[in-house]
Amino acid sequence: MPSTVIVGAQWGDEGKGKIVDLLAQQSDIVCRYQGGPNAGHTIVVDGETWKLRQMPSGVVSGTQSVIGAGCVVDAQVFVDELDLLRERGVDPSIVTLSGNAHLIMPWHVTIDQASERRLGSLQIGTTRRGIGPTYADKASRIGIRVQDVLDPKILRQKIEVALAEKNLWLERIYEVEPFDLEEVWTQYAGFAERLAPSIGDASLVVDQSLRDGKNVLFEGAQATMLDLDHGTYPFVTSSNPIASGAATGIGIGPTRIDRVLGVSKAYVTRVGEGPFPSEIEGPQQAQLRELGGEFGTVTGRERRCGWLDLVALRYAVRVNGMTSLALTKLDVLSDFAELPVCVRYRLPDGTETEHFPAHQSDFHHARPVWETLPGWQQTLDGVSALDDLPGPAREYVEFVSRSLELPIELVGVGAARERVLA
Ligand code: GDP
Ligand code: IMO
Ligand code: MG
Repeated sequence: MPSTVIVGAQWGDEGKGKIVDLLAQQSDIVCRYQGGPNAGHTIVVDGETWKLRQMPSGVVSGTQSVIGAGCVVDAQVFVDELDLLRERGVDPSIVTLSGNAHLIMPWHVTIDQASERRLGSLQIGTTRRGIGPTYADKASRIGIRVQDVLDPKILRQKIEVALAEKNLWLERIYEVEPFDLEEVWTQYAGFAERLAPSIGDASLVVDQSLRDGKNVLFEGAQATMLDLDHGTYPFVTSSNPIASGAATGIGIGPTRIDRVLGVSKAYVTRVGEGPFPSEIEGPQQAQLRELGGEFGTVTGRERRCGWLDLVALRYAVRVNGMTSLALTKLDVLSDFAELPVCVRYRLPDGTETEHFPAHQSDFHHARPVWETLPGWQQTLDGVSALDDLPGPAREYVEFVSRSLELPIELVGVGAARERVLA
């Protein structure tokens, strides 16, 4: 497995961090290619819990790690996580941060919050970390990049240009306090010393690793259905989590990617607003939320819960060119006597489809067509091999694999690193 993309196959929080941490043991380098501290990746190792937002999950095992140009970086979160590494005995010099990644500036966070407030009932339910406004400024070419902090003069000029526009917006449109140039400049020039040792040429580092035949992991944050171009727009994030985003976000060619491992829960969760056809109606939603501990890592928000949606998952197989799947949190389903699985959508015109609707109105009004599989109603705590799974649990996994025509390579049966069946 020289180079593998790990990608969220649903709406995020599938357990990507845990799978990346596991595979990082056999990898030489782990690369985050998009997103920022909107991610929350929980990894449990030897009873110790890591909650990472900005760093690639490879840092937990001390594996060399890269944050690519496609990422957006909150300097304070980055520095805090560098400190966390040091505290936990990991050498922070394993991290290379691309100088081309964009910085989330204080006004991005303010605008994210203010614009959600203004949208009212139409809000997206963002993580309010400034992600959308930072990517918007990148596209508008008034963003501030990581490398800008290295030159105080350039940094000052860029902040001045940005603030000339942002402060007008903040005061006149959002009716909040403007930012002071001197204050922001001093604060960000101050980050230079902390960021400088990490800043490097991410594309070159990864290219060299690939040339040397090393095992490279590309870690997607967020997920397929939150992809800006291919997700459930506008209820999406502002980057491209899908597998091809790895090539753009790091700066390598698409020919360098060998495998794409999708990560899906054995059910579905979604944080934030937007359509969700297989969302559970009734008390089983809260039951599943409690059993799975489905509360956001970053925001603490309740995650909406649904039964597995094979239509959305089939779409994720397609747009990612997925070569295999990791099915996580199978253990969470252990209490249920029956497990509905959404196998098709019924569209407003009465037809049924296995394929994800291309038109938003069809998707917004799609109703799930269920097939109900038997539950196993026993704990998976003692299970340490696929063959030891209770019959109905194995059948559940095989049903998913058959339906998607895709091998399931890993099955998650607990939060700890070793609770994965291969
Ligand atoms: P990510 O954003 O995709 O990395 O996922 P999160 O870390 O936000 O959410 C996944 C949660 O499920 C975390 O709390 C993990 O510790 C936990 N988890 C991961 N895999 C499993 C599993 O197979 N079983 C159980 N019970 N928990 C898991
Ligand atoms: P990980 O990497 C789940 C969701 C937000 C919101 C939408 C846009 O932990 O899987 P943003 O702040 O990105 O502009 O919010 O995307 N979202 C996530 N949902 N897991 C995530 O990351 C997410 N990152 C963003 O809830 O609906
Ligand atoms: Mg998460």
